[in-house]
Amino acid sequence: MKKVRKAVLPVAGWGTRFLPATKVMPKEMLAVVDRPVIQYAVEEALAAGIEEFIFVTGRGKQTIENHFDHNFELEHLLREKNRLEELESITRIIPDEGKIFYTRQSQRRGLGHAVLCTREIVGDEPFAVLLPDDIIWSKNKKNTLKGMLDLYEEKGTSVVLTSRVIDENVTRYGIIDPGVNQFEHNAIKVQGFVEKPTLKDAPSNYAIMGRYIFSPRIFDCLEKTKPGAGQEIQLTDAMAKLVKSDGFNAYLLDGEHLDCGDKAGYVKATIYMALQKPHLRDDIIEYIKSLDLTK
Ligand code: UTP
Repeated sequence: MKKVRKAVLPVAGWGTRFLPATKVMPKEMLAVVDRPVIQYAVEEALAAGIEEFIFVTGRGKQTIENHFDHNFELEHLLREKNRLEELESITRIIPDEGKIFYTRQSQRRGLGHAVLCTREIVGDEPFAVLLPDDIIWSKNKKNTLKGMLDLYEEKGTSVVLTSRVIDENVTRYGIIDPGVNQFEHNAIKVQGFVEKPTLKDAPSNYAIMGRYIFSPRIFDCLEKTKPGAGQEIQLTDAMAKLVKSDGFNAYLLDGEHLDCGDKAGYVKATIYMALQKPHLRDDIIEYIKSLDLTK
């Protein structure tokens, strides 16, 4: 069984839910406390042992490339001033040379299409996909992607991250069909997937969160996938094909899922992550308590 060494990060979206903030600024570069949203996913992948990063970019996303590269003037300045902590914070997230790749999705044809754009770079090996909108924060400090990689090695199938959502949110997500009696302590043997179903048609409340481990056979499924919901080539539709031929397991999230894809989620994520910082926590709690929420 081949080791998972590569991660794909699709960042070609327009981020229309954040306009006007995202008119020129990629939504992945909006800061949650002290780092851009995308850095959380890259740090999670590095900590899980991922060695190569493949970004699917588009128009106006050059700041992402600059963020994951050296800024020699700034590094020199910080070194001279002996500000080593800050120096470490800007260098430790840079993948080794030759280990970071950018490909452009020139037409925004959906998440499935963005993943398909990486076929030549990924090649014939399993790979991870991380959606940077989703910050995954593990309460017990176990790295979620690492947990998924362990499940992939144990089961030998593709793996997706899942968590239960409330009824009102079912229509916003790809939803898992768990069948009957397919639950283990940290996993579900998936029977099928449906993208953004109505509540009536939803096979469960288990939603797909933005982390995946794929067999390279997903590319054949993507090739055969026609535009679906929103006229986009949906990754979920290709996954529904892969379940039938290969099987699929879902890894149950043991931690916090912070959806930074819209304004409310982004503000909540900012508060949540600020509360995780010991030097900010008391200040933020004091501030929230001081607010008059009746007005
Ligand atoms: P979203 O559905 O959140 O779309 O994409 P978006 O364009 O980023 O944001 P809104 O809805 O306009 O506000 C989910 C993920 O898939 C990527 C996005 O960059 C995001 O990481 N994506 C989506 C692509 O890379 N290409 C696409 O064609 C669509």
